[in-house]
Amino acid sequence: MRHIISMADLTVTEIDELIATSQDIIISPVKYREACRYKKLATLFFEPSTRTRLSFEAAMYELGGQVLGFSEASSSSAAKGESVADTIRTVCCYADIIAMRHPKEGAPTVAATHASVPVINAGDGGHNHPTQTLTDLLTIKLEKGRFEGLTVGLCGDLKFGRTVHSLVHAMCRYPGVRFVLVSPEELKVPSYVKIPLKEGSVPYEQNTDLVSVLPELDILYMTRVQRERFFNEDDYVRLKDSYILTPEKLAHAKAGLSIMHPLPRVNEISTEIDQDPRACYFRQALNGKFIRMALILKLLEVSV
Ligand code: NCD
Repeated sequence: MRHIISMADLTVTEIDELIATSQDIIISPVKYREACRYKKLATLFFEPSTRTRLSFEAAMYELGGQVLGFSEASSSSAAKGESVADTIRTVCCYADIIAMRHPKEGAPTVAATHASVPVINAGDGGHNHPTQTLTDLLTIKLEKGRFEGLTVGLCGDLKFGRTVHSLVHAMCRYPGVRFVLVSPEELKVPSYVKIPLKEGSVPYEQNTDLVSVLPELDILYMTRVQRERFFNEDDYVRLKDSYILTPEKLAHAKAGLSIMHPLPRVNEISTEIDQDPRACYFRQALNGKFIRMALILKLLEVSV
């Protein structure tokens, strides 16, 4: 049984194949319209979501399959005290594949241990978010045509931002990638995320100032400060507006920069930037549906 809990569960070859399948889906969607007929995806969201849940559901519908699930823990038996293990054993009676988001780090690993169908981690606390990373990689491939040799700036809440953790893990496996990690001191990337960078001798620098590094970047990946992971509201209020990308700041950037954001945006990208052709974040949201279609096909072992 194949589960996707972190990017370590996919080889580089498999990531490249998923991207290639997504590109084929974009060109020939009709070919895939019946691919998952009579298959059911369960979306178990114990935490809020707009893009991840709805793109998973749209993906399954566009493959001809069906969807069941819940969008908040309060409407599931978790509210009555049911364990993740028991919920998963139950859902496996009804669904062929599960996408699960949970506020506790490691909950999808527990789920996978008890599952008889594939489990996909759709975000676990401040830990990992592998399908957002697949979305990001497809976006980079479509916008830039390559991963190799890019300077990638990651900016904002690098401590709690799970999308950043998974993206670093995946991109450092492609040659010539260099990271510029921009955050306040308190929101620096956790040391476990830097282990693959150190082991692979992947170049990276850490900085607190976005404007000074902006001219070097090929990709700027902005993130919101993750309010729900803070222990103290005062700390959140103090840090929430650490970085706000404005047209004035963008004047320092390369003409070919790609501005990405997993969304939701709070304040960190001025809405004036949405009109700039370098802003990719809504194209990125669309790409999330295509790559999740490819992932569902792979895990259900459906060939088209
Ligand atoms: C991200 C997440 O849930 O981690 N959103 C998403 O899935 N697109 C980013 C965030 O919530 O800030």
